[in-house]
Amino acid sequence: MSEEVIIARETPNLVGTVQVSGAKNSALKLMAAAILGQGETTLHNVPVISDIAIMGEVIEALGATVCREGHDMVIDTSTVDKYEAPYELVSKMRASISSLGPLVGRFGKAHVAMPGGCKIGARKIDMHLVGLEQLGVSFEMDHGYLVATTPEGLHGGSIMLEFPSVGATENTMMAAVVAEGTTTIDNAACEPEIEDLANMLNAMGAKVRGAGTSSIEIEGVPLAVMHPCEYTTVGDRIEAGTYLAGGALLGGPLTVEGIKSDYLRMAILKLRAMGCDVQTGEDFITVQRGKPLQAVDIQTLPHPGFPTDLQAQFMLLASLAEGNSVITENVFENRFMFAAEIARMGADVTIDDHHALVRGTEKLQGAPVVSTDLRAGAALVLAGLAAEGETIVRKIDHIDRGYEDYVGKLVKLGARVERVTLDVEDM
Ligand code: UD1
Repeated sequence: MSEEVIIARETPNLVGTVQVSGAKNSALKLMAAAILGQGETTLHNVPVISDIAIMGEVIEALGATVCREGHDMVIDTSTVDKYEAPYELVSKMRASISSLGPLVGRFGKAHVAMPGGCKIGARKIDMHLVGLEQLGVSFEMDHGYLVATTPEGLHGGSIMLEFPSVGATENTMMAAVVAEGTTTIDNAACEPEIEDLANMLNAMGAKVRGAGTSSIEIEGVPLAVMHPCEYTTVGDRIEAGTYLAGGALLGGPLTVEGIKSDYLRMAILKLRAMGCDVQTGEDFITVQRGKPLQAVDIQTLPHPGFPTDLQAQFMLLASLAEGNSVITENVFENRFMFAAEIARMGADVTIDDHHALVRGTEKLQGAPVVSTDLRAGAALVLAGLAAEGETIVRKIDHIDRGYEDYVGKLVKLGARVERVTLDVEDM
């Protein structure tokens, strides 16, 4: 059996400038939001990654047309006449659940397949449902599908989320924009992608205030007021953070362009604590390191805390740092699968519940490893650049979900890395 893999070889340094793509976690929701404006919405800076292609299929399954040209996308939702997100698509990509809020907003009803289990924890959707119920949505389960109805129409509500869930904040927001009356979402997620979504909804005619803070206020407008718009996706802070981790790993100087440094304040703070020099400007961040990496304690938290999506990349840095680091994962259960793979390369990581004790080692060794998720996959490729010999990273479809041209961008920075198709029978 053959499989496409990434082979990473020991690389002296990563130097130069890399252009960050549009944020995956923003673009996916902007595409879903387009359902609320009947007509042609144009999105710019849309990353060329497989998750975006799946969201395109979700929207097409509703009757829309999606045209892509490079990083531009035109979504024509005037022909949308279905309100079902089918299981084949939701099971491929959990973020398909983001269609729930806009479908309820546009049709007053939705059939969305329940996402199944996920490797990085239970990832329930109870808070999405609690938020929408406050707006007048009723839910029933029907053979694996969530059936949403609004017997008395959508109305504003006062919502207090138990945890600042990104997905629940977004789904609630996308329905509330067309609910009658005012909605408040407290303990809302503050991620930059939420602000990006609110900005697009406002460009479509919605009235959302406070997005990007923990308290969002939405004054509902009639559905007919919502119109298509032209909108540019914000830069991907996680992609940027991944390349910065690469620069910190090998020394740099490495610059990421197309990203606001404010979005990565906590990650920059940790890079500095680990001994890196980090310079920031309007639209770029540069990392450089002239002395050994130092151990640091990290805990993942909702934004502006340290992002869980950078946890694996920083565990890699901790593995090669002087001293012992404790990494605490507070956002997802079971998000330490990366540790087992990096241990195969000689890292010393002990997991105890949601804490990882990482004892720094001097060198990693190349080995065959498997991407367990998108971020772990990206971190394993970086690990291969720092390791002696050759590292073969398998299951790279995970990486393709969220990193546009990962290998191409790394090669431009000097990485010795390539995609090849191998016979994997004996591996
Ligand atoms: C989004 C991002 C993901 C990122 C995460 C946290 C997308 C497509 N994905 O995921 O990359 O890692 O934010 O920053 O944008 N939870 C519940 N019930 C709910 C909702 C969430 O218990 O109804 C739990 C989850 O299981 C998880 C935690 O809350 O443990 C955070 O989840 P959430 O913020 O909702 O993440 P996602 O929106 O799924």
